[in-house]
Amino acid sequence: MLGISMFYWRLFMYGIIKPKLCFVKVFTLFMGLPFNIFDIGAGKKNCLGVDIGTLSIKIVELSSEDGRPKLENYASLTNYGLASENKKTFGGEAGLMLRRLIKESGIKANEVNMSVPIFSSFLTVMELPKMSEAEVASAIQFEAKKYVPVPLESVVVDWSLIGEEAGLPAQPGKILVLLVAIPRDLINEYTAIARDAGLKLLTIELETVSAARALIGNDPIPTILLDMGSRDTTISLVDSGHLRISHSIETSGEDLTRALAAGLNINWRRAEEIKKETGLKVINENGQIAGIITPLLDSIINPTQNIMDDNFSKTKKKIEKLMIYGGASKMPGFADYLSGRLKINVMPGNPFNRIAYPEKLKPIINAIGHEFTVAAGLALKALQ
Ligand SMILES: Nc1ncnc2c1ncn2[C@@H]1O[C@H](COP(=O)(O)OP(=O)(O)OP(=O)(O)O)[C@@H](O)[C@H]1O
Ligand SMILES: [Mg+2]
Repeated sequence: MLGISMFYWRLFMYGIIKPKLCFVKVFTLFMGLPFNIFDIGAGKKNCLGVDIGTLSIKIVELSSEDGRPKLENYASLTNYGLASENKKTFGGEAGLMLRRLIKESGIKANEVNMSVPIFSSFLTVMELPKMSEAEVASAIQFEAKKYVPVPLESVVVDWSLIGEEAGLPAQPGKILVLLVAIPRDLINEYTAIARDAGLKLLTIELETVSAARALIGNDPIPTILLDMGSRDTTISLVDSGHLRISHSIETSGEDLTRALAAGLNINWRRAEEIKKETGLKVINENGQIAGIITPLLDSIINPTQNIMDDNFSKTKKKIEKLMIYGGASKMPGFADYLSGRLKINVMPGNPFNRIAYPEKLKPIINAIGHEFTVAAGLALKALQ
C-alpha cells in the first residue's frame, strides 16, 4: 500500500542494553524437519526475531554469551492505538518500515527469523499406518494431498511425529503426524520483506511455535496458549513440547473496541481507552461494558473449552494451565474472566522470563513484554 508514512505509526524502541546473564535451555519444536523451514540457525551473532502482525511490527534482538540469551534491543511499531480512520495494514511497505525501525532502534543483527500466523497457514493431525520416520518422509507428499485443501505445489509442507510422548495414543498400528503447510506466496512475501529491510531470512515458522518456545520452553505440562491480537485470537495446545492443535478464531482486540464504540456510542479512540483502562475489571453502574465485551469473549471461551474436553477424552490428561499473550490479553479483568469461566489457572505469558535483561527494564517488560512473545521466540530459535 503506497503512501503510508511513519507519521501514522507509534514507534516504541529501547536502546542497547547490557544485562546480566541467566542460563536457559530452549526447547526445540519441529527440530530437524524437511524443507529447512524450521531449521535452526547458528548462535554466534546477535539474533533477530521479527513478528509482523496485522497492525504492528515487533522486534527482539538477543545475543548469546556462553549459550545464554541476553536482551540486546527491542522495538515495535504499532498502529492500533490510533483513530480507526487512520488504520493501515503494512501492504507492500512492511520491508521499508522494518528497515527504518531497525535503523532507528540501532539494531545490529542482520539475520532474521520470521513467523506466519495460523490463519494464513494450514495445520492438521494425520493418522498414518505405523512406519519409520524415514518412511513418513517419503510418504508425506502423497498423504498430504488428502489433507491440504489447496494444490500442494502452492505450499511448503512440513511435518512432525506426535504421539506417545504427547500422551496422544494413536489407534493400534497407527501413528500420528502433525502436518503444516505454508503458502509459497507467503514465504515469498516474507523473503521480500526481509530483503527490503536489508536482512537475511534464516527461517520461517508458525507463530505458535515461536510463542511456545518463549513461554513454555521445556516444560512438559500440557498448556493452552491464547494469543489475542488485532486480527484474530489463536488458541493452541502444546503438550510435551509438541504443538498439537492451533485454531484461529475471528474475534480480536479490534472487535472489542468496535463493539464498545458501537454499544456505548463513542468514538474509536475513547473505546480503545475504555478497553485498556476499564475492560472487565470495573463494571460500570449498569454493567454495560461487561455486557458488551463478554459475549465476544464467549466465542473464544467455547472453542477453548472444546479443545480441553477433546484432549481429556483422548488422553485422560487434564489441562491445568492457560497462558495468554498478544496485545489484547492485557485487558483488565481478562485473565480472571477466563479463569472463572474455564476453571483453569490463567497466567499472563512473559517471554522474557528466561532472558536476561537489566533490572531497570522490569516495569516496562511487565507492562508490554507479552506483546513481544512471538518476536522473542523467534530470536531464541537462533540461539539454540
Ligand atoms: N493494555 C491493553 N488492554 C487491552 N487491549 C490492548 C492493550 N494493549 C494492546 N491492546 C490491544 O491489542 C491489540 C493488538 O495486539 P497485538 O499487538 O498482539 O496484535 P498484532 O500482533 O498486530 O495482530 P495479529 O497478531 O492479530 O496479526 C489491539 O486491539 C490493541 O488495542
Ligand atoms: Mg500478533
